[in-house]
Amino acid sequence: MQLAMIGLGRMGGNMSERLLRDGHAVVVYDRDPATVGRYEAVGAAAAKDLADVVRQLSAPRVVWIMVPAGAPTDETIEALAGAMSPGDVIIDGGNSNFKETAARGEHLAQRGLALIDCGTSGGVWGLENGYCLMVGGEENAVRRCEPIFRSLAQEGGYAYVGPSGAGHYVKMVHNGIEYALMQGYGEGYEILASSKRYPNLDLAAIAELWQHGSVVRSWLNELAVNAFQKDPRLSKLKGYVSDSGEGRWTVQEAIDLDVPAPTITLSLLARLRSRQEDSFGAKVLAALRNEFGGHAVKGS
Ligand SMILES: NC(=O)c1ccc[n+]([C@@H]2O[C@H](COP(=O)([O-])OP(=O)(O)OC[C@H]3O[C@@H](n4cnc5c(N)ncnc54)[C@H](OP(=O)(O)O)[C@@H]3O)[C@@H](O)[C@H]2O)c1
Repeated sequence: MQLAMIGLGRMGGNMSERLLRDGHAVVVYDRDPATVGRYEAVGAAAAKDLADVVRQLSAPRVVWIMVPAGAPTDETIEALAGAMSPGDVIIDGGNSNFKETAARGEHLAQRGLALIDCGTSGGVWGLENGYCLMVGGEENAVRRCEPIFRSLAQEGGYAYVGPSGAGHYVKMVHNGIEYALMQGYGEGYEILASSKRYPNLDLAAIAELWQHGSVVRSWLNELAVNAFQKDPRLSKLKGYVSDSGEGRWTVQEAIDLDVPAPTITLSLLARLRSRQEDSFGAKVLAALRNEFGGHAVKGS
């Protein structure tokens, strides 16, 4: 199929390459012309701006956007929609908030355009391994774009999950689960690394061992093997963990639904704590213990 890819970062670049390898005709655009040139060199058609993207596609057009959620996605969709025609399709493959997606979908539908939301998992490994795609939106538009999803996904890694926003909703919960799984591994490996009785445990060897028949084997744990092999005690890293929104949206949704989700919630809070050089809350605890019991405190 012919389509365009907007945003050639860690995800959009690899996805363009995987589509090209499977015989699709891909028009590419990124704010950085040098990046566009790299994909032109492997067979993509280069566009110089969003209007040029639309010009180079034959109707009905399909444009995939792979840019950060929020304002960059909004601005890109608005600019594209102004130049596109009824019957055209925009696929948002980024990690947008499902509520924003549903609102955008409605707004675009009034202009005759279809918005498909595609929760995309697989990270930088997707180029070789294939992605996992959770797709929402108007079903006829989704079916029309199936050749694209099938090329990007690994075997069994594509499903239509429901109307507008459903793909991003499922991806949000997927990422909430990911937070909790990662936190579990983080805590377990910290206990092993801190052990006084067994101070020299080989974390890479243990992580590798657990990949063979153990209940906790997983792709995340396989990535832990890689990380410990490169840096056995992760001494080159700072324990600072960002988040891109989905964990907090998952927690918010759990609260709105009265669903108790303590593990995902605490995983998010652990990330917030990881970003503090020092904790004011912990200072308050230290001060109160000192006030009521004369317990020792440490100076800053
Ligand atoms: N990385 C992952 O593992 C992963 C997995 C699944 C989903 N996602 C989602 O996929 C999307 C892209 O992620 P990524 O990891 O590929 O990010 P990335 O490597 O940072 O690439 C983002 C791309 O978007 C462009 N961009 C940034 N701001 C823009 C704006 N205001 N207008 C137009 N283009 C803009 C960037 O251009 P410049 O280079 O000029 O800044 C770059 O080409 C995000 O929504 C992300 O949450 C990421």
